[in-house]
Amino acid sequence: MLLKEIKNIYHKELDQLYPKEEVDSMFYLVIEHFLGLERFILAIDPSIVISKEEEKYLFESLSKLKKEEPIQYVLGETTFLDMKMLVNESVLIPRPETEELIKWVLNDHLDLKKSLNVIDIGTGSGCIAVSLAKFNPNLKLTGMDVSKSALAVAKKNALGNDVEVDFVQADILKVSSLNRNYDIIISNPPYVREMEKVDMRNNVLLHEPHVALFVTDEEPLLFYTAIVKLAANSLTLNGLIYMEINQYLGKEVQKLMQEFHFTEIEIRKDIFGNDRMIKGKYPGVI
Ligand SMILES: C[S@@+](CC[C@H](N)C(=O)[O-])C[C@H]1O[C@@H](n2cnc3c(N)ncnc32)[C@H](O)[C@@H]1O
Repeated sequence: MLLKEIKNIYHKELDQLYPKEEVDSMFYLVIEHFLGLERFILAIDPSIVISKEEEKYLFESLSKLKKEEPIQYVLGETTFLDMKMLVNESVLIPRPETEELIKWVLNDHLDLKKSLNVIDIGTGSGCIAVSLAKFNPNLKLTGMDVSKSALAVAKKNALGNDVEVDFVQADILKVSSLNRNYDIIISNPPYVREMEKVDMRNNVLLHEPHVALFVTDEEPLLFYTAIVKLAANSLTLNGLIYMEINQYLGKEVQKLMQEFHFTEIEIRKDIFGNDRMIKGKYPGVI
């Protein structure tokens, strides 16, 4: 079959679900990933023919995209800070705002003279732990998650990016202390309230793990409370906490951190001007 005919089929099947440019972009990602073809191949060779074997990958991907499966799951990977991260439906697809959180931590620790112990709570794909370990070898990472299948993905990502991370399976809502003291705690915990589901697209709602995303409307700070409490027990003197936050709940998280005697609390916005991340210092026993 001609590749351009398959491209037309993609548009016929997907244009009612996604903007045309997004369909183009998904088509090119699929041919690049599965067939190793550059996106401008059709401009160079408009009559390029695809074998039956190759067609199979393109039609399998099309049927997943029709079910609104995110393109990253279809490809089985995504890019995070220019690093390849494997993903599947057990893990949240790493987001650009989380890249901003990583840049904040890295910038704060450019000239480290010694190693620091860091724990990433709710590690998911391991994108936070793996990228911090990769970009600053003085940061010694532990990644924690309740999900065994997420940890399996995170381990592959550490291996694939050639970094060492200790992964532990634990439920942050059940542990009362961490296995050791940490210099830095970082987390992108579940923070989307049920009431916010109405604003979400099907590709997220139907395919990304709900355990990674949602909290109840009644207890939106469930994870922050558990993490901040643990941090107050487990951070070293002047240890730091960095967390991604729900854009509507920045002030509430700040208040929570103040209640636990964190100081130098700073909220930062994302490129859209929304409160997105928070940092605080734990000065030790008051
Ligand atoms: C928002 S995702 C963040 C994933 C990844 N760190 C990232 O930034 O892309 C939240 C993660 O918290 C994990 N999680 C949910 N409930 C948890 C719990 N009770 N204890 C530990 N981890 C939990 C989920 O499995 C998920 O991987």
